[in-house]
Amino acid sequence: MSHLLAEIDKSRLPRHIAIIMDGNGRWAEEKGQDRLYGHFHGVESVRDITEGCAELGIEYLTLYAFSTENWDRPAYEVSGLMELLVDTIRKEVPTLNKNNIRLHVIGATDMLPENARKELQEALDETAVNTGLNLVMALSYSSRWELVNAVRSIAKDVKSGSIDPEAITQDTLQHHLTTSQFPDPELMIRTSGEYRISNFLLYQLAYAELYFTETRWPDFRKENLYEAILNFQQRERRFGKTGAQLKEENIIN
Ligand code: IPE
Ligand code: IPE
Ligand code: MG
Repeated sequence: MSHLLAEIDKSRLPRHIAIIMDGNGRWAEEKGQDRLYGHFHGVESVRDITEGCAELGIEYLTLYAFSTENWDRPAYEVSGLMELLVDTIRKEVPTLNKNNIRLHVIGATDMLPENARKELQEALDETAVNTGLNLVMALSYSSRWELVNAVRSIAKDVKSGSIDPEAITQDTLQHHLTTSQFPDPELMIRTSGEYRISNFLLYQLAYAELYFTETRWPDFRKENLYEAILNFQQRERRFGKTGAQLKEENIIN
């Protein structure tokens, strides 16, 4: 067993890990290759990290695969990514089923090409009964898109009289997000040395621990994931309280 894996406290795992998979393009360019070569190799990391999370017993893994803003990339890269997406989903369904992994998607999937939507729907249906890891793919996703939709939907409920504006709570908003079925991520990882959120889960990450690494996504493997989890386990999550309060609560519980 890997020595990092042995160090992880299995009783204090994050329930939900979210990852901004960044650096595919640079990884390829550094090798004198086309950016799509990087995306292609990034799929290998998706496999490895998904398997790593399933083995550990992580309940939710959200992967930022394509943002609303990524539609503005050159057409060649966008269509290459869409092709890779369709191809990968089709090939991965048997492995997902073998590992009891349920696929979910968040994002404006109506913007995806017809064949991608179809493959995706099939994969969602075929993995729907699985009870292990929940793999949430953020596709054509952005947090501002999600929040605008949530506001619009709540406004409709107010207009129709089914909800009183005074009765709107954080729960109401939470229920209108695309992530309503999932707990908030406790750990957010971004690869490839960028220190920003890039429109990812802005509301849900309110108290997430953020972990940044220089490692490019196509080089990110289970060992890197274990390192991030170990780093997470060394942190004191205070949620606005003082360190002394937390120590006292630990003694009581
Ligand atoms: C992340 O890698 C994958 C997507 C955004 C689709 P990038 O393509 O952003 O790679 P860099 O950041 O340009 O290296
Ligand atoms: C964020 O990466 C989106 C995904 C990883 C899918 P980007 O590469 O698009 O983000 P920026 O442009 O560097 O902020
Ligand atoms: Mg990038």
